[in-house]
Parts: sequence; C-alpha cells; structure tokens
Amino acid sequence: MDVKKVSVFGLGYVGLTFSVCLASRGFNVVGVDVDTVKVKLINSGETPFYESKLKDLLTKVLGENNFRCTINAKEAVLNSFASFICVGTPSKPDGSIDLKYIRSVSRSIGVALKDKDDYHLIVVRSTVTPGTTRNIVKRVVERFSGKKCGVDFGLCMNPEFLREGSAINDIFNSDRVIIGEFDSESGDLLKRLYVEFYGDDLPPMLRTTLENAEFIKYANNAFLAMKISFINEIANICEKVKGADVTLIARGLGLDHRINHLFLNAGLGWGGSCFPKDLDALIAFSKKLSYNPILLDAVRRVNELQPLRAVEMAKKLIRRLKGKRIAILGLAFKPGTDDMRNAVSIGIINKLIEEGAVVVAYDPAAMDNAKKIFGDSIEYASSIVDCLRDADCAILVTEWDEFRELTPEDFIKYMKTPAVIDGRRIFHPKEFSSKLKFAAIGLGKFVD
Ligand SMILES: NC(=O)c1ccc[n+]([C@@H]2O[C@H](COP(=O)([O-])OP(=O)(O)OC[C@H]3O[C@@H](n4cnc5c(N)ncnc54)[C@H](O)[C@@H]3O)[C@@H](O)[C@H]2O)c1
Repeated sequence: MDVKKVSVFGLGYVGLTFSVCLASRGFNVVGVDVDTVKVKLINSGETPFYESKLKDLLTKVLGENNFRCTINAKEAVLNSFASFICVGTPSKPDGSIDLKYIRSVSRSIGVALKDKDDYHLIVVRSTVTPGTTRNIVKRVVERFSGKKCGVDFGLCMNPEFLREGSAINDIFNSDRVIIGEFDSESGDLLKRLYVEFYGDDLPPMLRTTLENAEFIKYANNAFLAMKISFINEIANICEKVKGADVTLIARGLGLDHRINHLFLNAGLGWGGSCFPKDLDALIAFSKKLSYNPILLDAVRRVNELQPLRAVEMAKKLIRRLKGKRIAILGLAFKPGTDDMRNAVSIGIINKLIEEGAVVVAYDPAAMDNAKKIFGDSIEYASSIVDCLRDADCAILVTEWDEFRELTPEDFIKYMKTPAVIDGRRIFHPKEFSSKLKFAAIGLGKFVD
C-alpha cells in the first residue's frame, strides 16, 4: 500500500493548499473538483484565490509532476490509496450546517470505489458537525460502493486548523494532528501517512472517535471566537474609562500563561469563512439537541455589534456622515488574504451607505472580490493615497502591513479633514491623538 498516493476532493483554500503541501514533500496527489474552470486554472499554474506562497509551491509541484487536477472522481480514487474530503460545508439560512457537498462527494467516492479491488482510506477534512462522518459519509459510501466500512475501506475524520493568510506555514508547522478513527486500522494508516509527511517533526497526535474529532474542530473555533469577543467587550468598556487602553490590558492578560496573548487583539470583530459559520452551526446543532448555548449566543451577539462601533466613532469624530467622504482602509476579513466572506468591512460599509456617506475603499488584495459585493455603490481606490485623498474620515478596518507604516502626516497631507479611526489598534494613540482627530477601539480618554 503506497500511502503517498493521495486524492483530494474539493480544491478550495483547504484542499488546494493541503494538496500542494503534500505534493511538495514527494506525495503523488490528484486533486478533484466539480468546477471545470477551477481545475483548468490550477493545472495551468494559477491559483483561484490569493494565498501567500501558494503560487510558487503550485508551480514547483506541477513542474515535478507530483500534482494534477481532474474532474474525474473515479480515476482519482482508482489511482490513490487515500481520498481526503475537503469540500465546503456552508450554512443554511437558519445557521445550521448544509451537508449537500458532503453527500455529493461521498456519493462520487462510493461510485468510484465500486470498481476498486484494493482497500481504500477515506478521510474527512471538512468541518462537519458531530455524527456526520459516521451517519452520512459512511452510509452514503457504503450504499453507492456496495462495500463495507472497516472491511473494504477505512474511515477517519481529521480536522483542518489552517488559517487563511498563513495556510502553507500552518500545514507544515501544525500544532497537532487530530485523528478520529472508525477503527484502529484506519487510524494506523492515516498516522503512517502523516509520519511520511512530517518525518522527524511529527506534531503531537491525538487519536480518538470520529465524533470527538468533529467536535474538537468546533470547540476550537468557538473558543477562539470567544477570546476575541471577550477582549472586544473589555475594549468597549475601556472606551468609557479615562486612562484605560485595551492593548495594555490585553498585554497584561496575555502574560498569564493560562490565558496567553494570542487572539486577544481588540478590534472590529471576527469574520471570514470559518468562525461565523462554524459558531452558527454549533449553536444550531446544540439547539437541535434541546440545549440552549447561552455563552455561544453571546459570543456571536458581541461580534454582530462590534463592526458598528467604527460607524459610531465616525459620527463622534465628524458628526454628520451624510454626504461625507469616508475612506476605508482594508476590506479582506484579515490581512494576507483576498477572502471577503463575512468580512466586517461589509457591515461597516453598508451602514455608512445607509447613513448617506460616500465610501471609497482600498485593499491590497481583495478589490476584485469587493467589487462583486458592493458593485457601484462605493468607489474603489487604486492606492492608499488615492483612497485618502479629500476624505473627511478614514477607518482602518484590516491591518495589512502597508497600513502600519502610515504616519499622522500622511493622513494630514491627503485628507480634507484628517480624522482617523483605528479599528485594529495599529497606530500609536498618543502620537495620532496629538496631531489629528483620532479614535481607536478600546482607547479611553487620556489622563491629563
Ligand atoms: N478556509 C479555511 O480557512 C478553513 C480552515 C479550516 C477548515 N475549513 C473547512 O474546510 C472545508 C473546505 O473549506 P474551503 O474554504 O476550502 O471551501 P471552498 O468553498 O473554498 O472550496 C470547496 C471546494 O469544493 C468543491 N466541491 C464541491 N462539491 C464537490 C464534489 N462533490 N467533488 C469535488 N469537489 C467539490 C467546490 O467546487 C470548491 O472548489 C469547510 O468545511 C471549511 O469549514 C476551512
């Protein structure tokens, strides 16, 4: 059995980056997607989204013939030892998880397996609610293949923890590998695969049930979202306390090793493709089990209100927003990506438009995706300077490195009335406050 022959179903952020990382370490990877345009694009060396280091690595592995993409599921299953499921698991309108792609991919793998004589390992890497791997993937594959899980094929649930913007590094330097296994043979085989991949740097590994592995991913994201909502709530109180500054409070908190400093940056809230949908899915899942998750509901509620703090601050700084030109610095849900899914910039911009403001926006990577969302309801700047020119107020929404270099003089030079809102706490509060109108998340009035 050649554990280094792998197929990956779903070539989004997770599937493509994972495929390319495996291939770069000598694995032979076939990527499968139902989107023919995407398959062609990747085979030609282009990436369908921006992710740091991904394009170079893709060019390398295509050149070494370790990676190719297809829409042919059967060919991929027959020519690999293991199939990783990395398809999307979006939310339904009520927040619960939509498993339609999980069902369809399980069916494709099942149909393909029918014609395979050798044992095959199936690994769910998508984020799925507890019970999905056993009750849906296993059943659908068994039904369409006519084969038996634990006999003809193995089954694992192996959640992905990468962060967009540092996906490649996260895969190569993972904190841990969680293996949920249907039986010990499946888990042993997946462990062998990771031993091949990580060599001497194998991260700590936890082997457990399918359901625990599924749950760990949700608990993980809910905890991180809670940490951010927590510090944002502290930030909101800080703004009412003379002499208080949330960044110092977070630093003090972070020195406690039981808390640590990560995910304690106060700001305009969390967004992206994972936290909002995973928290919603966990809340809906709990409620379906007749449990009311009070804390998780509060984590979400704090985050719904947080982006609007920027608009309230703008009103305080420049009073009426109607007819005013507001510059938005940063649109992507975080730096290092062009992903706009559930980006907090969306709520802020919509509210500004509702208030009658004229919005002009700039992001180093997400302009194309932003145009699909806002159409011609806002103006798009080609640079920071273009964005700031003649603006009445600037709101820093995404903390890209190039924004960190801005000085108060830059704002004074280009804006009509220099008023700045630091939504991510990247500017020096005393320096900015002394030179222009300035407000920042979690910053109370200075003591005299
Ligand atoms: N994006 C992240 O940062 C991240 C991190 C950790 C976990 N996850 C989880 O990983 C999963 C994938 O996320 P993503 O962001 O990569 O999704 P995505 O939407 O970017 O990509 C999913 C891909 O699956 C393809 N697909 C759909 N049905 C298919 C089928 N039957 N066969 C083959 N391909 C099919 C789609 O065409 C698409 O290209 C989700 O469950 C997500 O929650 C995402």
